[in-house]
Amino acid sequence: MAIRRNKHTPRFRELPLERRRALISKVARLSKKETLALSGKFPFSEIESLSENVFAFFPLPLSVAENFRVNGKNYLVPMAIEEPSVVAGASFGAKLSLPKGFSASGGEGIVVGQMQVLNCVEERLLEKRGEILSLANSVDKEFVKKGGGAKFLRTRRAGKYSVLEIGFGSGNAMGANAINTICEAIAPRVEEISGGRIIGKIITNFAPERLAKASAEWDKGILYESFPDGNYSPDEIVERILALSDFAEADSARATTNNKGIMNGVSALSVATGNDWRAQEAGAHSFASIGGKYSPLAKYSRTKRGIFGEMEIPIQMGIVGAPLRNPLARVSLKILKVKSAKELSLIAASLGLAQNFAALRVLATEGIQRGHMELARRGAKNGE
Ligand code: MEV
Repeated sequence: MAIRRNKHTPRFRELPLERRRALISKVARLSKKETLALSGKFPFSEIESLSENVFAFFPLPLSVAENFRVNGKNYLVPMAIEEPSVVAGASFGAKLSLPKGFSASGGEGIVVGQMQVLNCVEERLLEKRGEILSLANSVDKEFVKKGGGAKFLRTRRAGKYSVLEIGFGSGNAMGANAINTICEAIAPRVEEISGGRIIGKIITNFAPERLAKASAEWDKGILYESFPDGNYSPDEIVERILALSDFAEADSARATTNNKGIMNGVSALSVATGNDWRAQEAGAHSFASIGGKYSPLAKYSRTKRGIFGEMEIPIQMGIVGAPLRNPLARVSLKILKVKSAKELSLIAASLGLAQNFAALRVLATEGIQRGHMELARRGAKNGE
């Protein structure tokens, strides 16, 4: 959803702070308490309980990216990030994908708990699969009820260790806490069954079974119109974006920066919604290396109409538990109006793709500094 109603209404960024807050409060139907939280007015205890030795709040701008349409539904996407032009880039990448916007699928999946077992007989674990899975499902009944419980058990070798992996549905939770608790609780019995010794027991953030997929097609005519100087023909713009994307396929150094740009979006949403952004980063970068070579997460191809982009990325976010303990994350979730972790994951993947497309569009043509300079000028005008 774009906050701007029509061309006579000022853009969100043209409004003074108080009117921006009032508008967000109206659109997200915030309570009085939640509206106050936008200006930092919430009990210190809410933040203090999120960490240890807390003595202050660390300020990070909370913005909204506009123009996101995912599977036909419009969203305002909250982003907590300090880098100029990231939110503008995401909004612009999304705007250029309209009217259809993004198609997205997946986004719900399996969270895997790992147990590192020494000197064990793996066959015994497989023979007692039923017992181990029901034991795992008996530890946290609420988590199992909401997420569907343990789905599978598998073993494999990693060097001199055996690894027992149990896959769980996590419902609307990110799942780390519950699954770590389960792995620790069942470890003694797993040791008994396997005849081995368990050392490590924790979830893995390598999450190829928790992928969200987003795609969009950008019209070359719209892309052409997006450059006021008309320096590049529609086909030239497409060709340049494809060449830059191809460079990332060929070169892991470029792929790293390319994927950093994708994570500008995904991690900013993760921070804004109180999710663990380090999990998104670790999961995305290990997934980018899954074929043995670090590669770009998004792929592009030429179409008759312009250019098609698609991306699969592991998203490890929830909308219950930790996110609800942060007063501003609660606000972000209300702005998004998401009903499930799956829906949040589909938005995250679409945001990452929009971010990547916006970066490629500008890098492959006029360069990134021009946009940055514009924002820097605006910052200077605001007395920064
Ligand atoms: C900067 O934060 C992100 C970019 O470097 C991404 C990219 O190079 O694709 C612009």
